[in-house]
Amino acid sequence: MKLLTHILFLALAVVLAQCDEHTSAVLDRCQGLEMDAVAVNEEYIPYFFKGDHLFKGFHGKAELSNESFAELDDHHHLGHVDAAFRMHYENSSDHDHMFFFLDNKVFSYYKHKLEDGFPKDISEVFPGIPDHLDAAVECPKPECDEDSVIFFKGDDIYHFNVQTKAVDEREFKSMPNCTSAFRFMEHYYCFHGHMFSKFDPKTGEVHGKYPKEARDYFMRCSKFSEESDHVERERCSRVHLDAITSDNAGNMYAFRGHHFLRRDGDNDTMTADTIENAFKELHSEVDAVFTYQDHLYMIKDDHLFLYKVGEPHTHLDGYPKPVKEELGIEGPIDAAFVCEDHHIAYIIKGKNIYDVELKASPRVAGNERTIHLFENVDAAMCNREGVKVIKGNHFYHFMSTMEFVAGRSLPEQHRVSLELFGCDH
Ligand SMILES: *[C@@H]1O[C@H](CO)[C@@H](O)[C@H](O)[C@H]1NC(C)=O
Ligand SMILES: *[C@@H]1O[C@H](CO)[C@@H](O)[C@H](O)[C@H]1NC(C)=O
Ligand SMILES: *[C@@H]1O[C@H](CO)[C@@H](O)[C@H](O)[C@H]1NC(C)=O
Ligand SMILES: *[C@@H]1O[C@H](CO)[C@@H](O)[C@H](O)[C@H]1NC(C)=O
Repeated sequence: MKLLTHILFLALAVVLAQCDEHTSAVLDRCQGLEMDAVAVNEEYIPYFFKGDHLFKGFHGKAELSNESFAELDDHHHLGHVDAAFRMHYENSSDHDHMFFFLDNKVFSYYKHKLEDGFPKDISEVFPGIPDHLDAAVECPKPECDEDSVIFFKGDDIYHFNVQTKAVDEREFKSMPNCTSAFRFMEHYYCFHGHMFSKFDPKTGEVHGKYPKEARDYFMRCSKFSEESDHVERERCSRVHLDAITSDNAGNMYAFRGHHFLRRDGDNDTMTADTIENAFKELHSEVDAVFTYQDHLYMIKDDHLFLYKVGEPHTHLDGYPKPVKEELGIEGPIDAAFVCEDHHIAYIIKGKNIYDVELKASPRVAGNERTIHLFENVDAAMCNREGVKVIKGNHFYHFMSTMEFVAGRSLPEQHRVSLELFGCDH
């Protein structure tokens, strides 16, 4: 009997372990998940909710939602979040609060802390809005006529006026039922299954070629759908860049995950390719790239890969070499650039920037300075127009390296997809 119990226990343990494996295997967003809810946090980082898990940002593994938002678990075990949005009205006391909807309850969080008095009934906070919602998204003026929240349930659409609490029911005829909805960079996205459509928040009209694959634009996956148009995807993707540079002929290379985009200096033609194909030794996911004397210096973790620019690019013998040996600084680094006709590589690590005199031997990283304007950056490049510094979906233009390093106020924000890659949205 004892033995039998023991065997049963073992069998149960095996089954449980398999279940566990099963859950984490299912929660790979690159497999094409249908998300339950999507919202940006206070720092514009998107949170994708699926079951009792949460994906933060555009890549990385799922974590349990209750680790970030403990109280979501309290009332009844957290199965899933129905809908979520971030309030974004400067004049509202709820400005930048994240709202979550579970069954008939609404939770309001600010910087991951539950606000006093919450959770509350949805009918108390948003009178006229039904329970068991499918999706919700904020819609400030003038994108909507009034500062509003749009709620979705089946094919019912409710515009909730934040100031007057008036509810306006509308029909979004050309739109599918959304399982989650999301405002990102002033555009509105309805997710349905693992596809999404961009819509007009006032009318629900969908313009352009939709639906598209959510994975292609909002996730960083090594493989994309068969139908994916690589150039269009890389131009319009919201996923941050790893590195960017332009060569002496004015061609620009922008690297993201396993792919890169090349803009031809002569005719502005864009092409996309895999890193594996053009820079085989590097494989994927580079940290920083700069161009110097017809060579691409490509840095990944502690190693520097050196390619001679050409068709095809050729990897130099003896490389990769340790970054420390080649540039006199420990990897990994965040970004690097060389300005035209100069012999200094500027190396950015976190808040610090270093100069490396490329003609010196051995090379050393000196002149450490603190960058005041950024905690960190994703990528940077320099050409005759000055320095472009890229962080998330935006870039900033500085006339010189000096202005970038010593600057105390952020210059105008530009959009990477629109202004650097010519994506139409
Ligand atoms: C979160 O949920 C998991 C699984 O449902 C549970 O095991 C864990 O104890 C919870 N953690 C917290 C902090 O509530
Ligand atoms: C916000 O409040 C200020 C002053 O209280 C007012 O001038 C402004 O028009 C308000 N903005 C909106 C969008 O309501
Ligand atoms: C959309 O939701 C409505 C219920 O509101 C349902 O009748 C309809 O079948 C749904 N459409 C699709 C395509 O699922
Ligand atoms: C642009 O220029 C490159 C070479 O510089 C050439 O291979 C490509 O075909 C050109 N594209 C167009 C559309 O002219």
